[in-house]
Amino acid sequence: MASRKRKIPNDKSARLEAEVQAPTDGTLQPATAGNGPESALHPDKPGSVRPHYESPGSIASPYKTDQFYRNLYFKEPNFRELARKDAGFARFIKQNGQLDFTDPAAVMQLTKSLLMANFGLKIELPDDRLCPPVPNRHNYILWLKNLLDTSSYQQPGGKLCGLDVGTGASCIYPLLGTAQRPWCFIATDIDARSLSYARQNVSLNGLDNRIRVVQRSTTDHLIPLDDLGIPSIDFVMMNPPFYISENEMLSSANKKSRPPHSACTGAPVEMVCDGGEVAYVGRMVQESLVMRDRVKWYTSMLGKVTSLEALVEQLRANNIDNYAVTEFVQGNKTKRWALGWSFGPMRPDDDAARGIKAAIWKKVLPPVVRMDLLALPAFSEVGRVIKRITDVVGSLELSSWTWETQALKGVGRARENVWCRAWRRKKMRDMAVEEAQSAAIDASEEDCRLGFAILVDVGMAGTTVTLRWVEGHEQSLFESLGGFLQGKLKDLAG
Ligand SMILES: C[S@@+](CC[C@H](N)C(=O)[O-])C[C@H]1O[C@@H](n2cnc3c(N)ncnc32)[C@H](O)[C@@H]1O
Repeated sequence: MASRKRKIPNDKSARLEAEVQAPTDGTLQPATAGNGPESALHPDKPGSVRPHYESPGSIASPYKTDQFYRNLYFKEPNFRELARKDAGFARFIKQNGQLDFTDPAAVMQLTKSLLMANFGLKIELPDDRLCPPVPNRHNYILWLKNLLDTSSYQQPGGKLCGLDVGTGASCIYPLLGTAQRPWCFIATDIDARSLSYARQNVSLNGLDNRIRVVQRSTTDHLIPLDDLGIPSIDFVMMNPPFYISENEMLSSANKKSRPPHSACTGAPVEMVCDGGEVAYVGRMVQESLVMRDRVKWYTSMLGKVTSLEALVEQLRANNIDNYAVTEFVQGNKTKRWALGWSFGPMRPDDDAARGIKAAIWKKVLPPVVRMDLLALPAFSEVGRVIKRITDVVGSLELSSWTWETQALKGVGRARENVWCRAWRRKKMRDMAVEEAQSAAIDASEEDCRLGFAILVDVGMAGTTVTLRWVEGHEQSLFESLGGFLQGKLKDLAG
C-alpha cells in the first residue's frame, strides 16, 4: 500500500514543561511519574503517533477517565444523593431536596462538596470573595482539553503547562486542571486576600509542586512569561472581571436576588474593570500579538455574547485566522462563552472551535475543518474505497502520507497544492531540472502548508469518508484538496 512516512512534527510538550520549570524558584517541579498516565506520554516516533485531530477517546487520569469527567454535570447534580454522602452539605438541603441559591453559605458548601465528591479536592474560601460554581468552571476545563487534544499531533493526556490569569481565592482552574490531567500551572492574581487563600488551597491539596501562585499588579502584563523567565507555555486561561462598573455589578446581583459583595456575587476587585471584559481580553489580544507562538493557545471565558462578537472582530482585524468559540450552558442557567486563539498552524476540531449553536451567531464562527467526501449505504464494500483513497493520495507528491489500516485513516502533509492540474503541468515542465528541484524540496521538507487526515467511518447506518483539516492557515488549500478528492471518489457512490 502506498505509504511514505516522514516525521510528524513534535509539538514539544515535554520540552516546554522542562523550560517552564527551569527558570522558576524551584517551587514548580515537573509532574512526577505517578501524576500522569505513562501510556499517554508517547515519544513522537513516525507512525507510532496517533495524530489527535479527532475528539478524544477515553484516557485515564490518575483518578478517573476523561469519559467520567465529560459526563459529570450532563445532568444537574443530585442534591439528595450528595447530602447522603456529605453531612456538611445535608445541613443546607431544604425539605423539597433543593438548595437556597440566595444563601451564600449554602452556595459555598455546594462548591466545596462537589469539589470533594467529584475531584477529591479540598478548598477553603473567604465569605467576601467569589465562590465559583463548579459545573461552569468544569465546562471551561472540558472545552480546553478538547481544544488542546484536537489541535496536536501528540496523544492527549501529556504534561502541559498553563497560565491562569486571575485565579481567585479558590484557585479553581488550576485545581480542576491538575485533578484531571498531568498539567502544571502558573496562577496569578492582584488581590492579596485571594492570593493568600489560593496558596492555602494549593497546599491543602499537596499541589505546591505543580501550581505556582504569583502576585501581579494592575499595571503588569497579564502574561508574565518574561518576568518569570519562561520562554513558552501551552495555554493561557482566564475568567476576567466582566462588569464595567460597580453599579452594573450591583444591579445584576439585585436581579438575581443575591446579596452584594458576598461569595455569590464576588467583590468589586474581582468583578469590575475599566472597559469590562472586552477591554480586559482586548489587552490579552494586544499582548498576544507580541508573544505570538510563545503561547500555544490564548483563551478566555466571557460573560456576554456581545463581547465575543467584538473580540472575534479584533482577532480578524489582526489576521488571526486560527481561533475557537464556544458556549457553556448549565441546565437552563446562565450561559457563558469562551474564546481561544492561536498563532500556530494546528486546527482544533469543529466541536471545540465552533461550539455555538444559535444561527444568529454563525458570523463569529471560524471556518469548518471537516468536509464530507463520500457517503455510502450500509454494508458497502469498504475495501475498494480504501484502495481508491490510498491510490489517489499515495500518487501525490506529498511531504508525508501514512495510511493506518486498523484505524481506517490516513494522515498527510503537503508543502504545496500538489493535487492541482497547474501544479502537475509545471512539474512536467520542470522535469529537466529535477535534481536541483528535489534538493530544494529536501531542504524545506518540514514546511507544511496543509496537514490533513482522511477518516473512513464504517457504521450501521453506512460508511462515510471525511477530510479533516489538521494543520495550516490556508482555508482555500483545504477546500481545494476536498474538491479534488470528492471528484476522485464520486463514482464510488453510484
Ligand atoms: C471573575 S474573577 C475569577 C476568579 C476565578 N478564576 C474564578 O473563575 O472563579 C477575576 C479575578 O481576576 C483577578 N484580576 C483582576 N485583574 C487582574 C490582573 N491584572 N492580573 C491578574 N489577576 C487579575 C481578580 O482579583 C479576580 O480574582
